[in-house]
Amino acid sequence: MSSKVTTATIRQMKKEGQLITMLTAYDYSMAKIVDDAGIDMILVGDSLANTMLGYDSTLPVTMDEMIHHTKAVCRGAERAMVVADLPFMSYQVSRKEGMRNAGRILKETSAQAVKLEGGQEIAKTVRAIVDAGIPVVGHLGLTPQSVHQMGGYKVQGKDESVAKKLIEDAKTIEKAGAFCLVLECVPTPLAKMITESLQIATIGIGAGPHCDGQVLVIHDMLGLYPRSSPKFVKKYVNLHEQMDAALKQYKEEVTARTFPGPEHCFGMSEEVLKKLY
Ligand code: KIV
Repeated sequence: MSSKVTTATIRQMKKEGQLITMLTAYDYSMAKIVDDAGIDMILVGDSLANTMLGYDSTLPVTMDEMIHHTKAVCRGAERAMVVADLPFMSYQVSRKEGMRNAGRILKETSAQAVKLEGGQEIAKTVRAIVDAGIPVVGHLGLTPQSVHQMGGYKVQGKDESVAKKLIEDAKTIEKAGAFCLVLECVPTPLAKMITESLQIATIGIGAGPHCDGQVLVIHDMLGLYPRSSPKFVKKYVNLHEQMDAALKQYKEEVTARTFPGPEHCFGMSEEVLKKLY
């Protein structure tokens, strides 16, 4: 195994222009596959509310659920850096609550960093968490925890005022001490401008090719999520279809008594068997 990815690795990669790969994972098996593939960062996203728990937004997921999934992911991630999302309302009420919840993630799991959504309004919380020794990833653009305030899942920063606010927010979050910044659903030229203006790495999702890295929700890119995926997703494989075919074959074989075959069965001696009759 090559050495564990740390905040220093990510800073160095930005400096050297090496592109950073990040994917979500929510359990041990998936984390192991992602880690073995050499992906640099694993995000235990609050998107687990959708992909794992079947909610239609990220709002309902709790701290306890995030911790439960993050613990499992950490067991599968030898090299990749694990980042866990702070869920909705775990850091918005007060700086103290944000610190306590960020601390819970690092104390109760082996995650190395937390991710928070928002700009200037959460900058003091980011600073306090970083000052407590907890690395922070920022998240700007489409911030799904604010879906109702944004009026839906829409590209952010197409007009001048929102674009200017995004540029300012990115600088503010960098200044507050975040070591990395996710940009979600931002026009390509704006993401490029933000990336070039920051010392910290940007990780894009629906933000074009000029970010310092890319992230996707693993259920989307593997074709596992049963609901529709956004335009920015590339489906690298359709696992839903492949799993469906495998499950139908299993049903056919069980009902035709061709599974289990002799190679899946255990025998016993005739002598013992006779004594049972
Ligand atoms: O929760 C999540 O999966 C995320 C990604 C979309 C970046 O925040």
